Amino acid sequence: MRTPIYDFLTHYIQQNPVRLHMPGHKGRLGLPALQQAAALDLTEIAGADSLFEADGIIAESEMHAAQLFGTGATFYSCAGSTLCIQAMLMLMKQEGRTVIAARNVHRAFLNAAVLLDLSIHWIYPRESDDILSGRYDPSDFEAVLQQLGRPACIYLTSPDYLGRMADIGAFAEICHRYHAKLLVDNAHGAHLAFLSERLHPIQLGADYCCDSAHKTLSCLTGAAYLHVRNDYDLDMNRIRSAMAMFASTSPSYLILASLDWCNRELASPLFREQLGEVLTRLQKLEEEFSSRYVFCGGDLLHFSIDAAASGFPGTELADYLNRHGIVVEYADLYYVVMLFSPANTEEDFRRLEEALELFVPQQLPRKTRFQLPRPEKVCRIREAALAPQESIPVKKSLGRICAAVKVPCPPAVPIVLSGERIDENCIAVCEGYGISEINVIL
Ligand SMILES: Cc1ncc(COP(=O)(O)O)c(C=O)c1O
Repeated sequence: MRTPIYDFLTHYIQQNPVRLHMPGHKGRLGLPALQQAAALDLTEIAGADSLFEADGIIAESEMHAAQLFGTGATFYSCAGSTLCIQAMLMLMKQEGRTVIAARNVHRAFLNAAVLLDLSIHWIYPRESDDILSGRYDPSDFEAVLQQLGRPACIYLTSPDYLGRMADIGAFAEICHRYHAKLLVDNAHGAHLAFLSERLHPIQLGADYCCDSAHKTLSCLTGAAYLHVRNDYDLDMNRIRSAMAMFASTSPSYLILASLDWCNRELASPLFREQLGEVLTRLQKLEEEFSSRYVFCGGDLLHFSIDAAASGFPGTELADYLNRHGIVVEYADLYYVVMLFSPANTEEDFRRLEEALELFVPQQLPRKTRFQLPRPEKVCRIREAALAPQESIPVKKSLGRICAAVKVPCPPAVPIVLSGERIDENCIAVCEGYGISEINVIL
């Protein structure tokens, strides 16, 4: 597969031109470890195309990505899924659609709600062990669609932070019945398009979805895709303009080159082979340790352990692994999330296997689990986020209106939102996650 962006950059270096354009390092950044990368770090010069008016090498590379993911169109982001979420929601706002969202959204969604002044219909999980994850019932969303009787969209996060997946097919079916759009935050699931089973949200009927290429594929941090379904009446310019609204006018060509190069990797049989090997190895690991650890299930690249159910605090296992040179994606008292990708090696597996084998917990698990609070909504998210505010101790915040989005970070799932009244449950959950200060409206 051609790599037009990467080829342009390498050709430019070979020509050794006098660089009378940005960036100021002129390809000669002093930082030793970044010198080679700096040579490729260009800006939108002649021939380099322009990310949000793409009709040259970027457009060609995006088309390759669209073919690989099987989408109607795919757009690159150098500002992560965050930018794609902002753009998706802006498009919905332009179409006058009400947003119905599963409550376990990432902070990026909430910030977009502030920027776009969105008012959200929240749906809470039917079953949930805690605030990070839960099972959402499509019929709860359908009930809101029925009641609304006006243009709407459903917004889901799948896989969620632990790797649990929603039944996207069922949600897509409902959405299309009600002429609603289905938006999926698939930040953790770019690899799903390349499994033998069709599990990527676009393959399952979502209208829009974002994938953080940097989370589970070999791309630089910040690299992401906004995908649009193939039978959609595409207005490419409107989508690019929505992305441009929130993005820098100076996209990173290093990130773009990594997305471009990634197409070549995704197109090669070796990638699917490596992905298959990692998944088989993870399944083996899970079987091997199933008597000692309780696994969360869901997406296979998320090797998530329910530490509390396994009999120890998640932070104890994470600290222990850290001492053995293994750094996990996330840990709290209840869970440990390890995120794999096809780039992990047999040596990585061997080291983890050895460490898990030798782990002897010393501490008792945290028994009480927190449920997602359901605080009363008092005003719009934007109104509260932009209001005069003060920071006060959480334990003194009962009855006050939350101003800033306060979350355990990572993984950034909201406990109480801007514009909601803080109740006793919110306080208990904040304290449970070690949050001691909260911003409230004055
Ligand atoms: C579920 C989810 N959505 C969105 C994001 C934002 O993605 P990015 O960091 O690529 O902007 C994250 C980041 O961790 C996430 O976990």
